[in-house]
Amino acid sequence: MIENETFLKDVNEGFSQNPKHISSKYFYDKIGDKLFQQIMDLPEYYLTNCEMEIFREQSDAIISSFEINKNQEFELIELGAGDGKKTQYLLEALLKIDFKFKYIPVDISQNSLNIISDRLLKLFPNLCIEAKQGEYFNVLEELFNSKKPKIILFIGSNLGNLNDQVAHNFLHQLAENLKEGEKLLLGLDLIKSKEIVLLAYNDSQGVTRDFNLNLLARINKEMDADFDLENFEHLPLYTEEEGVAKSFLKSKIRQSVFIKPLNKTFDFEEGELISTEVSRKYNDEILEKILQDSSLKIQDKFMDSKNYFADYILTKK
Ligand code: AVI
Repeated sequence: MIENETFLKDVNEGFSQNPKHISSKYFYDKIGDKLFQQIMDLPEYYLTNCEMEIFREQSDAIISSFEINKNQEFELIELGAGDGKKTQYLLEALLKIDFKFKYIPVDISQNSLNIISDRLLKLFPNLCIEAKQGEYFNVLEELFNSKKPKIILFIGSNLGNLNDQVAHNFLHQLAENLKEGEKLLLGLDLIKSKEIVLLAYNDSQGVTRDFNLNLLARINKEMDADFDLENFEHLPLYTEEEGVAKSFLKSKIRQSVFIKPLNKTFDFEEGELISTEVSRKYNDEILEKILQDSSLKIQDKFMDSKNYFADYILTKK
């Protein structure tokens, strides 16, 4: 019996379809988490620095747009907390002006939550922090039981990894659970030229390649499969017209791979692609379209000095 039955089922389904695909959520095992940390430090991966600049320079303005009543305790819920290096600026500004709040980072990885909690408590010993491990909506369901006003953070362009239909459903479901005036701070990478975006997903050190190939290494490890990683290459694609960076693994040769717990062989043609990730880039129009008929509206927008990245404040109508 393998540990993660859902992963096995998703691999079976994804590899049985044409074109083959596998969800990018499976990038993030321990090695994947580390590789993503390295990606965020790459010079080509502009997203992190741009959003960091927004938080560093504009946290006070962001807090004003939260429209929080200073006497009322609120909950700051961060979905997919990562390492907290950006949120840190926001927390610092909130603590400085004596807001009463609890910071609740939510993540699927308990390991990430432990790291972020330790780091933030060292920085801010007075911070009230209560990490919650689990899938976003399972945790949110529990969190929405509390009557305290809520600000949700969903930054880092994480929404971009959901296809448009799923992103639409996600935001609509979230909106349904918010009360009037509550906010969602949504960090999104903006549509820009191919030269800039493609480099971010095809860095010169090959970290993004290793991040993508780690999916196959993970399948080998967890499913006793026999992928030869040498026989696959990382393929990123992007056009400014579509605004979606897509990552694939391309089979260099015709080959077969056996996955033991499924007792099944999967065939790959030479040049065949496995779709592994979408990273949608946004603009106001696309976001408005995704929010159409929802109870969320765009209230504010904060951008970095290059206008590469935006943190939107959405408010529940
Ligand atoms: C986590 N997510 C927003 C990253 C992105 O840019 O789509 C994941 C990533 N994939 C390749 N590089 C970074």
